[in-house]
This record gives sequence, C-alpha cells and structure tokens, in this order.
Amino acid sequence: MEEKIYIFDTTLRDGEQVPGCQLNTVEKIEVAKTLEGLGVDIIEAGFPISSPGDFSSVVELSKVVTRPVICALTRAVEEDIDVAAESLQYAKRKRIHTGIGTSFYHINYKLKSNQDEIIERAKAAVKYAKKYVEDVEFYAEDAGRTENEYLAKVVEAVIAAGATVVNIPDTTGYCMPNEFGDKIRFLTENVKNIHKAVIATHCHNDLGMATANTLMGIQNGARQVEVTINGIGERAGNTSLEEVVMILKSHKDLPYTTNIDSKKIHKASRLVSTLMRMPVQANKAIVGRNAFAHSSGIHQDGVLKNRENYEIIDPTDVGIKESSIVLTARSGRAALNHRLEILGYKLDKKKLTKLYHEFLLLADKKKDIKDDDLKALVGKTDRKEPAMKLDLLQVVCGKSAVPMATVSLKINDEIMMATASGNGPIDAAFSAVKQLINRKVRLEEFLIQAITRGSDDMGKVHVQIENRGKLYYGFSANTDIITASVEAFIDAVSKCCNFKNSKKEISKS
Ligand code: KIV
Ligand code: ZN
Repeated sequence: MEEKIYIFDTTLRDGEQVPGCQLNTVEKIEVAKTLEGLGVDIIEAGFPISSPGDFSSVVELSKVVTRPVICALTRAVEEDIDVAAESLQYAKRKRIHTGIGTSFYHINYKLKSNQDEIIERAKAAVKYAKKYVEDVEFYAEDAGRTENEYLAKVVEAVIAAGATVVNIPDTTGYCMPNEFGDKIRFLTENVKNIHKAVIATHCHNDLGMATANTLMGIQNGARQVEVTINGIGERAGNTSLEEVVMILKSHKDLPYTTNIDSKKIHKASRLVSTLMRMPVQANKAIVGRNAFAHSSGIHQDGVLKNRENYEIIDPTDVGIKESSIVLTARSGRAALNHRLEILGYKLDKKKLTKLYHEFLLLADKKKDIKDDDLKALVGKTDRKEPAMKLDLLQVVCGKSAVPMATVSLKINDEIMMATASGNGPIDAAFSAVKQLINRKVRLEEFLIQAITRGSDDMGKVHVQIENRGKLYYGFSANTDIITASVEAFIDAVSKCCNFKNSKKEISKS
C-alpha cells in the first residue's frame, strides 16, 4: 500500500521572503487558490507578525481558501503566536507553525542562550500555541547542523507539549543526503513519542541537495515535505514541489503518493513566476523552458522514433501539451521534415535537401528557427531559379557617412555591377539596381517586418513597383534587412522584365 506524503507549500512564506518577490493580498489569494486546485495539503500563508500586509493577507486568504490547512509562522514568542492566531480566525482548518534555533550556532550566537533554556522556550511556545489551535507544528531551526542526540531531546519535549508535526529543517542546506536521512531515522528510532507526530522536512538548496535530502527524509520516515513552486525561497531556495511530486510519481517502485494533480504543475509554475517576477531558469527540472525541448539531431531523431528514448516524463503529465523539437544548427533533416509536416508542407527528398541547406545557413546566423522563419524559407526555396539574382551587395552607411551601395547582379550567368548613392543604404542599393536593369520602375510600396522577435530575427520585406502602368510584387526574408530589401526589389523587377537574353535584352528596353 502506498503511503501518503503531505505536501506543505511555503511559496507564500519562505518563497515570498525572496527580495523582489513580494505579493499583494490579491496576488497571494490567486496563488493560494492555484495551490488549492493543485491539491497541496497545507499552505503556509505568511508570517503575520512581520507586517500588517502579511497579517491581512493571511486573514483574507483564510476566508476564501477552504480545503487545505492554512498555516501561519511564528517565532517562539507569545506576541507572534497571538498575532498568528488572530490572523487565522477565519480559517476552516488552521495550524500555527512555531519554533526556535537548536544548532550550536543559533543557540550561542543568535539566541545567546543554552540548550536547556531552548528546550524550555520550545515547550512553552508549543503549549501557548495549543491554547489557540489543536494543530501545532514545531520547527527546530538549523536542525541540519544540530547534533542528533540534542535534537531528539527537543523533539521529544515538544511532542510531549502537544506538537502534532515536528519540522526538521536543513536551514542552511548543508546536510549530505545520507546524513539527513540518518537524522530522520535517528529521530524515528530514538524519540519515544515520535508516533504521536508527523515528521516534516524543510530543506534549503544552498548546495543543490534540497530535493535529494527531502527524498532521503521521506525514505527514512518523514511524511510531510515543505516545498515551494519553482523551488523559490531564501538564498538558493527551497525544495521544489514539482521535483518531489514528479520523483514520487515517476519512480513506481517508491511506495508513496501525494494529493497533487500533476497536470496543473506547469500552470502553477508560470503563475508564480509571473506574479513574483522570478524567471524560471531554462534548464530547471520539470518546469524549465527546456525541460521538454530537444535540440540536437541525435536526440530529435530518437524522440521522433519513440518519445521515451529521451523522455522519462510525459510532458502532458505536468500540463505541457507536447515536447518540443527546437530547430537549431544542430538539428537534423528528420526534425526539419517533422516540423514542416506539422506546418502542412510535404517536400520531396530533393527539395528537402535544398531547404535543409538553406536552413543550416540561416540557423548559423540565428539561434533558433521559428515556424515563420521556416515558412519564409519554404517560400524561397520552392521557387524556380530566377533569371536575375543578387550576387553581391556592399553598403556604406552610418552617422555622417554618405550612403553608398555597390550591387552586382547575376543575370543569366552574366555578372553586372553598379554603384550609387542615396538617402540611405536601401535607397542607394535600389538606385544601383535601377542603373543595372535600365528600366523605368517606380517604388509604390515598401514594408519591412520582423518575423519573430529579437535582434537576430529575420526581416520580411514586401515591395511593390510600377512599370508601364502595371504593379509587380516582390518578397524576401533575411536576417540582414538591407539584403532582404534588395532581394525583394529584384524579385519584383524580375517579374516585369524579361531577362532571357540578359545584357542585350536589358539595354534594348
Ligand atoms: O529554513 C528554515 O529553517 C525555516 C523555518 C522558519 C521553518 O524557514
Ligand atoms: Zn526555510
């Protein structure tokens, strides 16, 4: 039988302590509602004594979030506990989370006390909180660096005083996973009343071991885990909810379950990131932008043959529609063809080879290729080899420079070159083209648009020209907008002129 692991979310308390992540009451309620929908068991809503805003957020949140237990943090100080109790007045299910430092550092340098006195203060705080609520959680701050024998004494004393949950935080993220696991095991084996309370883990990620430590905690007897969405929290953050939940879900051999609806993870992650203005690192496990993105040719080919070749989680299990094949210069033909098929293009082998070549040239200039880039490329390569092509373009421009352009055109295998000036590099280049074609064409319309985003983007250029009363349309796309402009102009020009006989033909007209 699978055992339930209680998910205690502290995004709104430990997560919200992060500089710049502060939320107002309305935002906190939105996050709390999302956490409720996600299925978390306990929401740590704030530290009410810390500010009037935090106090009223706990009050308001308690009125509208009804399924999970609402928890408020305090120090082992009566006033804190009074304020926390008041903030929880409307909560349907409530918990006070009180505690004190138990490590050598905290007792000597922060609290300037001694071990016996700390036990007395811990007991007193739990008893005091018990006057207000039945459900009292005690935290032994810096338990990770507290020697196990003393920690066991503290834990036994607070359970005797009425604590229903004993939280063993690795406050500084220092413990090794085996050390943290042994600590929890030690408590289960050496605290005689331990069966009367739930053991909780609260791990920080200073050395990147928060999730590993939490897992070891579970495997050694902890049944509540304190986590945050996206792993946000003090310094390097807390254990992330999504990692623990997906580890327990993916490893079928682990006999544990949670109440979390994993399909809602992605949405919750986005919401927290947006409201807290805290971007998720691209390679963050489960919720990072690249967590289900495949970019190398070998991996893409493998994923297209069978997703499980490179994916241990089905992206739909965390609310992501599908894994993505990111088209970069490292992508292979299989990935390119796959994307083209999705976009509705069916290219034969020869066309695909040609397009793949163009694609690689573009991908070397532009980090990742978007669908619109591909559409522009297909449009370019699908066309017949034009009679007139841009062979070389060189421009001089910039502040205080006279804009000049040298253009060389390849017209039916003959190269012709001209130089002209203009009021800008594009105007200069168009004039040079006009010299070469020896035709009266008038620019009617000229439009440059970015296809996707970013300074490495492709520019789309639409051009309309007039020749002998008729309008001709030209198009091109290139990461270099001047080149795209000249190519679009040439595209239009080549439609109004017949260049079959090249030079002669041109000079005749
Ligand atoms: O990291 C910690 O020890 C804490 C406690 C207040 C639970 O956040
Ligand atoms: Zn913490």
